[in-house]
Amino acid sequence: MATPVLSALEFACRMPKAELHVHIEGTLEPDLAFAAARRNGLVLPYASEEALHAAKAFTDLQSFLDLYYACADVLRTSRDFADLMFAYLERAHRDGVVHAEIFFDPQTHTARGIPFDVVMEGLNAGRVEGVRRFGIGSRLILCFLRHLSEDEAFATLAQAQPFLDDIDGFGLDSSERGHPPSKFARVFARVRALGKPVVAHAGEEGPASYITEALDLLGAVRIDHGVRALEDPAVVRRLAAEGIALTVCPLSNVRLCVFPTMKDHVLPALMAAGVRVTINSDDPAYFGGYMNDNIRAVDAAFGFDGAAWAAIGRNSIEASFAAPADKARWLADIERFAVSVGIKP
Ligand code: HPA
Ligand code: ZN
Repeated sequence: MATPVLSALEFACRMPKAELHVHIEGTLEPDLAFAAARRNGLVLPYASEEALHAAKAFTDLQSFLDLYYACADVLRTSRDFADLMFAYLERAHRDGVVHAEIFFDPQTHTARGIPFDVVMEGLNAGRVEGVRRFGIGSRLILCFLRHLSEDEAFATLAQAQPFLDDIDGFGLDSSERGHPPSKFARVFARVRALGKPVVAHAGEEGPASYITEALDLLGAVRIDHGVRALEDPAVVRRLAAEGIALTVCPLSNVRLCVFPTMKDHVLPALMAAGVRVTINSDDPAYFGGYMNDNIRAVDAAFGFDGAAWAAIGRNSIEASFAAPADKARWLADIERFAVSVGIKP
């Protein structure tokens, strides 16, 4: 084969791909936060965008969540949610994302008195505009907050009932330690009975056994993060054998001190063990970057070749909830793009 005309990194940045792990509240950039605060007559506890940026030195998941929930307080109107969604989709499109499965945390908003329909109306308006302007497809995944009770999750599911056509899956996020998946077994049984796919954050800060619980007790079809799987070889073997995708978020893991540096990240070890990994941005406004910033950081640490990046791109499409015809088209697009730039996919 001729010498590639693009580096492996450029190929990875430009290939069509899906983002499967991004929290819409985590895409709230300081400029949007201050604009929403001004419009809504609120004062953020930070004097400037720079001061807010400086607050993003996290020591663990909880230290991040405290800031993340505080900033989400500026989101009050449908317009705020629409602007947030549109800004993310515009940014993701620039990174070659053709399809995004986006988490939202309704309990963060309904607990502040923001009606569920205000959140949904805004998010959907942003999604419609994203398709119209950039052709970028999206899905919404409702996450229950695991630091709250299962009864509160049931109440949220009841509130979501009128909007189920616009909610393509259900997940579990927030403080992991001390809040195992088993706490939510009953509400996810109800979710499955509704015919909705289940995903769950597990094995980010929590132990590998939480991954097993998410699979066996919640019926999760993907695991969000899952990087602590490597602490139990049996869990790794199971993920590989069953083709369970992990939505790995490299910059997030380093910023939340799950790994001291990117070179300590287990992504290459997971790939070597045959686990289907994808790369995602999690909370890009808080962790130093969007999809391609994560790809660049991984490239700088590990220097994957084009074939490895093509496999990661294919994983992202295959593990998504997109329609089969769309998946087939994007997989063919990755293949065609790779061949056109001299990369063996
Ligand atoms: N983990 C758990 N909960 C979250 C995260 C995360 O990375 N981001 C937003 N909520
Ligand atoms: Zn997450």
